[in-house]
Amino acid sequence: MAVTLDGHQSRAVSMVFSGMNVAVVGPAGCGKSETLKAVVRRGKDKWGEKGVVVLAWSGSAANLVEGRTLASFLTVTVGDPSKESILKRLLEPRNRVIWSGILAVRLIVIDEAPTIEGRWFDRLEYVFRMAASVFNQCLPFGGRAVFAAGDPLQLAAYGVTDTSVEVSACATRSWADTFSYSYGESVRLAGQHRQGSSDGLRGILDRMRFGKTTDADIATLNSTWGSQAEETWMDFTHLRARNIDAAAHNARMLDSLPAERFVFKCADTIKVVHPEQVKDARAKLEKLAATSVTLCQGATVVLTRTLSADLVAGSHGKVLAVNPGVSVLVSFFGRLTPVTVEVQSFCIKDALERTLAERRQIPLLLAWAITVSRAQGMTVQRVAIDFSCTSWTLDCLSYSAISRAVSLDCLRVKGLRREHIRTCASGLRYYRDMEEEEG
Ligand SMILES: Nc1ncnc2c1ncn2[C@@H]1O[C@H](COP(=O)(O)OP(=O)(O)OP(=O)(O)O)[C@@H](O)[C@H]1O
Ligand SMILES: [Mg+2]
Repeated sequence: MAVTLDGHQSRAVSMVFSGMNVAVVGPAGCGKSETLKAVVRRGKDKWGEKGVVVLAWSGSAANLVEGRTLASFLTVTVGDPSKESILKRLLEPRNRVIWSGILAVRLIVIDEAPTIEGRWFDRLEYVFRMAASVFNQCLPFGGRAVFAAGDPLQLAAYGVTDTSVEVSACATRSWADTFSYSYGESVRLAGQHRQGSSDGLRGILDRMRFGKTTDADIATLNSTWGSQAEETWMDFTHLRARNIDAAAHNARMLDSLPAERFVFKCADTIKVVHPEQVKDARAKLEKLAATSVTLCQGATVVLTRTLSADLVAGSHGKVLAVNPGVSVLVSFFGRLTPVTVEVQSFCIKDALERTLAERRQIPLLLAWAITVSRAQGMTVQRVAIDFSCTSWTLDCLSYSAISRAVSLDCLRVKGLRREHIRTCASGLRYYRDMEEEEG
């Protein structure tokens, strides 16, 4: 169900439809993604389904807003092709359906935009500019409407730091061209919808994002865990810095449950025959759904595919029962009635929308622990973070992790030290420049 937007969110939506490109920024939970969804709804009303494309860098971020990844949109599978070679390939006759899809786009919507590497943002902008009339090729994105959302003070693009050669999308020239001058604007949302105003977490996070965490803040956060062992917080989603740490935690938790295990093995149908195409198809299927998913009654899981408007990818729940190989009954957190999640079909299609390969698999993964990067953009009802169990050194990682929580009551933090809290100079600069522009 659509929420009622606050004044800042409504203004940002109106700006897009008055002809401005808009980048909404602001702290975690200020409602950027919710604003994005409103833009998408209005955009589809105005320009139809094909007139709007919703993009994000990671599959999990794309799933949250029912969008697609930049790589799949540009049909790039491997490597680091130049913008010219991407364009050249898209212009080939075999890609004519994809190209006509790009030509039909009137509104480009991007969530978690700061997690896109600058060069990929440039490539996207270039492709859209080249897919415009010569008169519009001097305009960013060929004159299409652009709406981007994200927080430059949360986890950045993979490998992008203050000292790396690669920069984040929001530090590129094409970003500045798109969202400034007469073409557009960066808009800071000032509401806060994830944490309540009376909760101490909001103030702690506001200080943390600007590197102003006090000793009292750290003590308050660490006091949330108490002296209990990890198992006490079984119903909490544990956040980890690395995939390997999350997987180890999930395996340990699964081992601790006495219930019978059920393994969902994928069933693949590969329709291509050339060995290289088969290899490529298998690699893509692996990214869409796991080869094997082991579940049991009581396991905490995350939904990997949006099933309906109110049951989106990223929803967490607990397994109530398993119908082996067919479906899983899940009690999703925050929903009164359990939902039967059935095995789904995950397909890879070619430019003509023909299915090249299909994997049937249950759209669930164990989720006692997930990585912060997978959790980015999510609101997680119960969050536990043990800072002592892994290395937590990336810029903005701690803020990105802790800001998933809705309140201090629903948060458990252990082992947080000052050195875990790092902000990033480029993000601070982004907001400072905005303030200077606002006068
Ligand atoms: N106007 C609103 N009224 C009520 N709830 C809202 C409103 N805007 C957002 N929310 C809710 O607040 C939570 C956080 O919103 P949202 O995910 O849009 O924040 P965000 O700024 O995108 O956060 P992040 O930086 O973590 O991605 C979500 O549960 C969302 O549904
Ligand atoms: Mg968001």
